[in-house]
Amino acid sequence: MSTRHFLTLRDLSSEELRTLVKRASELKAIRNRGEVYEPLKNKVMAMIFEKSSTRTRVSFEAGMAQFGGHAMFLSPRDTQLGRGEPISDSAKVISSMVDVVMIRTFSHQLVEEFAANSTVPVINALTDEYHPCQLLADMQTYFEHRGDIQGKTVTWIGDGNNMCHSYINAARQLDFKLNIACPEGFDPDEKLVAENQERIFITRSPVEAVTGSDLVVTDVWASMGQEEEQKEREAKFDGFQVSPALMDNANKDALFMHCLPAHRGEEVSMDMLEDPRSVVFDEAENRLHAQKALLEFLMVK
Ligand code: CP
Ligand code: NVA
Repeated sequence: MSTRHFLTLRDLSSEELRTLVKRASELKAIRNRGEVYEPLKNKVMAMIFEKSSTRTRVSFEAGMAQFGGHAMFLSPRDTQLGRGEPISDSAKVISSMVDVVMIRTFSHQLVEEFAANSTVPVINALTDEYHPCQLLADMQTYFEHRGDIQGKTVTWIGDGNNMCHSYINAARQLDFKLNIACPEGFDPDEKLVAENQERIFITRSPVEAVTGSDLVVTDVWASMGQEEEQKEREAKFDGFQVSPALMDNANKDALFMHCLPAHRGEEVSMDMLEDPRSVVFDEAENRLHAQKALLEFLMVK
């Protein structure tokens, strides 16, 4: 069988995605029982980070160690990646020495090019366009708290960014409805929206978007790489803050998620992350379990 990559959620079938999300909860239970499970003994992961990270780095590195393997952190500052070595050459060389590669970078095309030249699985750990690993954890968290998300309504508030795009893919793969409230000029990718228009509703009103929703999700207003737009975005996103009062328009048992890091007082009110409807810290922990399920899926035959 040819090498499987995980560049977007669409690299998995709906069935594979559901199985993986459930397996993540099993792996969580195995770890919580203190059982040793090392299916990746002697396997090595290369982790290429061109952007900062806390959760992604810690979860992949800890996950590989718990599975009996090893992870190495590669930064463009200390490797030839930052000195212009072609991606295709880097992919051939790195993949000849390790068993899986994880990349966090700006351009989604770079990850595609790396994968096209890699002999081992490549995982997208965030690009400007997608953040599929986060969605594995988000979906695991929803399933654990509320059961299957099929037929539910999810609301995205804020920027039509990489997280929003991955929510669109999740809506397609797991069959839920997605309301999106973003300011004019910050809509998600037009083509992606057009391909999924039967399940997407875009509005400029956060209250309208949240009404009847089972899950409300937001993210920072300025993503990594957009730091210089911070001030301008703060003005444009005024009114798009998620707060307990906004959540009161959602269904009674609605949950709140945020991939973190969060900016309290901007996209979330000071008290939103501590609200009983917020599951953001379960969501963050589930990055570990969900990515272990992904590694097992891609690497253990
Ligand atoms: N949510 C997320 O990807 O966090 P990090 O940027 O800390 O990895
Ligand atoms: N949209 C954010 C997500 C961070 C995990 C970013 O790309 O910076």
